[in-house]
Amino acid sequence: MCGIVGYIGNKNCVPILINGLKRLEYRGYDSAGIGILQDQKSLVIKNKGKVTLLEERIQNLNLISNVGIAHTRWATHGIPNELNAHPHSNHDGTLFIIHNGIIENFLVLKKNLLNQGYRFNSETDSEVLVHLIDSFIKEGNDLTKSVQLALNEVAGTYGLAVIYSGEPDKIVAARKGSPLVVGLGENENFIASDVSAILSHTKQVVYLEDGEVAVITKNSFNAKTIYNKEIEKEVHEITLTLEEIDKGGYPHFMLKEIMEQPETVRNSLRGRIVLDEGTSKLGGLIDVIDRLINAKRIIITACGTSWHAGLVGEYMIEQFCRIPTEVEYASEFRYRNPIVNKEDAILFISQSGETADTLAALQEAKMKGALVLGICNVVGSSIARETNSGVYTHAGPEIGVASTKAFTSQLVVLALISLLIARRKNMSLVDGKALAEEILAIPDKIESILKLNDKIEQIAEEFKNAKNFLYLGRGYNFPVALEGALKLKEISYIHAEGYPAAEMKHGPIALIDENMPAIFIAPKDSTYEKIISNIQEVKARGGRIIAIANEDDNEIDKLVDFSIKIPQTIRMLMPILTVIPLQLLAYHIAVKKGLNVDQPRNLAKSVTVE
Ligand code: G6P
Repeated sequence: MCGIVGYIGNKNCVPILINGLKRLEYRGYDSAGIGILQDQKSLVIKNKGKVTLLEERIQNLNLISNVGIAHTRWATHGIPNELNAHPHSNHDGTLFIIHNGIIENFLVLKKNLLNQGYRFNSETDSEVLVHLIDSFIKEGNDLTKSVQLALNEVAGTYGLAVIYSGEPDKIVAARKGSPLVVGLGENENFIASDVSAILSHTKQVVYLEDGEVAVITKNSFNAKTIYNKEIEKEVHEITLTLEEIDKGGYPHFMLKEIMEQPETVRNSLRGRIVLDEGTSKLGGLIDVIDRLINAKRIIITACGTSWHAGLVGEYMIEQFCRIPTEVEYASEFRYRNPIVNKEDAILFISQSGETADTLAALQEAKMKGALVLGICNVVGSSIARETNSGVYTHAGPEIGVASTKAFTSQLVVLALISLLIARRKNMSLVDGKALAEEILAIPDKIESILKLNDKIEQIAEEFKNAKNFLYLGRGYNFPVALEGALKLKEISYIHAEGYPAAEMKHGPIALIDENMPAIFIAPKDSTYEKIISNIQEVKARGGRIIAIANEDDNEIDKLVDFSIKIPQTIRMLMPILTVIPLQLLAYHIAVKKGLNVDQPRNLAKSVTVE
């Protein structure tokens, strides 16, 4: 998730690009850069940090140009620093590119380019693109043809824009899997990764589709495929306001983030499943995999929602990898002088990568000599940098304070790690393939659950005035009960508790009456019969029940007041599906109560204090 903006026309592009970047900063904000053509010469300025830093740097440079491209980065390959920031240039600085997405075969392409004598300045996958295009220009092709030829060799996703001082009258852009839109003005045209960057200049836009290449000059626009087939594009008129657009047309970031989970889970999986071998490929674990497989014990440490992901991880790792696993709050771990030794592997899960307690626990574990690994969303964050190795979740920036898409991506990464270890230990190829296929099917299943949004909203209407809620689940779905209760607490301020369903009879059952709704997570797995007994116990005491159950479960409707039906998957992956209705339920209850769901009272997105 990075931001792209480009301009060609009669005006000075510099303020237009900087303002465009500011509008895109929510997509990524760890570094920013601008590339312009000035008097036939190209100039690239970039830095780590926010767009305002870039703006300060160029303020006194008196840059004036009619064509330029700019980028705000959310790192995937390579930490946020000046070298890894975009634009990336060819050796003589005549050609530069900004790129959004992931080039999956960049290592192969890089090797070929290194053999041809190209040198690389950054650790990014994106830099291969500029040298690859350059190599086709050197063979005598024009810019457009060179971009097309390069993209024929690329596997992965891209939204990109390129400028070449040899053809200063145009910007060439292309898209596959990463959004790109062309804005059409009077004697000026624009390119952007989303319309919010250009909406103050034009409302006439053309959306590029996968495999399309656009060539824009100040007076013209045309599109071809990467195979050079001409295509007719439709011009759309934008009617949304800027604020609506930032949130992707959704009223809140939280809803947007819930709704984009099919895509964010796909991003977490991209390039990481090796189906033929029934395993996963996690570049960030290559150097430590033997130590991890041979670990005598795994400890997972985190806070909040990430701690809930850790609990699911414990079930996964113990079931598939047969390595004893413990989960501990980072705040507890850091203060109680835990027993840690060199044969332990300790996983630190954190969306932000900056949570103070998790970071301090990491330093403690490191000092005691354990193998420390990170599962972080924000690339280059403190926890990502301080761990020996790890796996990024690639869920994109999460803005809503209540974590949603980061959680499902953490679960996906934990499943990938479990698969990797299990296959290196005693899981068969056949079982590995079956598991890999189930993982790959998850995004489509999430999509089908999201279609239940209206129904869940009706259930929220029914329960919005409840003062307390009980969330109950067993096995893999016990942590989901905790997470569902946390979501409700965080944004609706309703008291909610999560329990393992069987524990209900040891206390919480005393609370049950007609005013205490109970949510049962009851997919058909080995604990199903037992959970049905727990449902009966609540029913007998007049409690109102919402059940999250499987699509083919018609029997449960006879026992419960409301049911939300979700597709089947294997037990280990069920939490990725069962949590979605709970996120939506919490969201709708909070909205109906008129609360600020994106910024709930007293909470912070990233808690960098103890
Ligand atoms: C805060 C946030 C939670 C989050 C927790 C851990 O409390 O409000 O949503 O789960 O921190 O954050 P991390 O970035 O480490 O996952």
